[in-house]
Amino acid sequence: MIFNIMTLFTEMFSSFIDTSIIKRAINNHIISINLYDIRDYSKLKSKSVDDYVYGGGEGMLMMAEPIYECYKDICKQNKIKTIYLSPKGKMFTNEMAKKFATYNELILLCGHYEGVDERALQLIDAEEVSIGDYILTGGELAAMVLIDSISRFVPLVLSNENSNKNDSFNNGLLECPQWTRPYEYKGLKVPDILLSGNHTLVNEWKLNSSIEITKKNRPDLYQKYLLNNNGGIRNE
Ligand code: ADE
Repeated sequence: MIFNIMTLFTEMFSSFIDTSIIKRAINNHIISINLYDIRDYSKLKSKSVDDYVYGGGEGMLMMAEPIYECYKDICKQNKIKTIYLSPKGKMFTNEMAKKFATYNELILLCGHYEGVDERALQLIDAEEVSIGDYILTGGELAAMVLIDSISRFVPLVLSNENSNKNDSFNNGLLECPQWTRPYEYKGLKVPDILLSGNHTLVNEWKLNSSIEITKKNRPDLYQKYLLNNNGGIRNE
């Protein structure tokens, strides 16, 4: 899977690309991340990429031309699914990550300043995606969030292919609490059921814990779970 990033700050991606699972996936040629500096596509002598907003308003807007020229250079002849990271976008979810992971190639446009000229978004046919109800100084962190979560659904990125199966959200519930060694730490013990070796009881305990934590932290997901699961009543 190829991620093409359009950004004014390529350097922000250095440690992300060079760390842990993403680094291994790149080294194993499972994903690749190509960085494009939008400023390289400015046709102005000054290499400016932003200007004032028509009709007034705070701050500066990224101009359409460098964005479109950069996009054309990435696409060449083919159209590539393009995402614009923006607080005005559709809220990003695990389901969207799964869907985006089915593409062979994506373009992620990182905005800065007060946003981008609307014509750039029209011309590159960008889907606007937000990672949450807060404003970042630019789209780069959001792009890294997308790359990270999408990559987890690309086959062979996770060493154990099953290791995202029980993640929070994958079954509509949050993941249950977990423990590792030692058995006791500062007087706090691992629940005995987890050491019982009885897989049926352990799984039941895990499901109930997941339901509890979802109910407490995400009542919205809990209500959905109840609707989809017979009001939470399990048929034995
Ligand atoms: N750029 C600025 N804020 C953002 C957000 N919340 N999500 C995605 N991109 C952004």
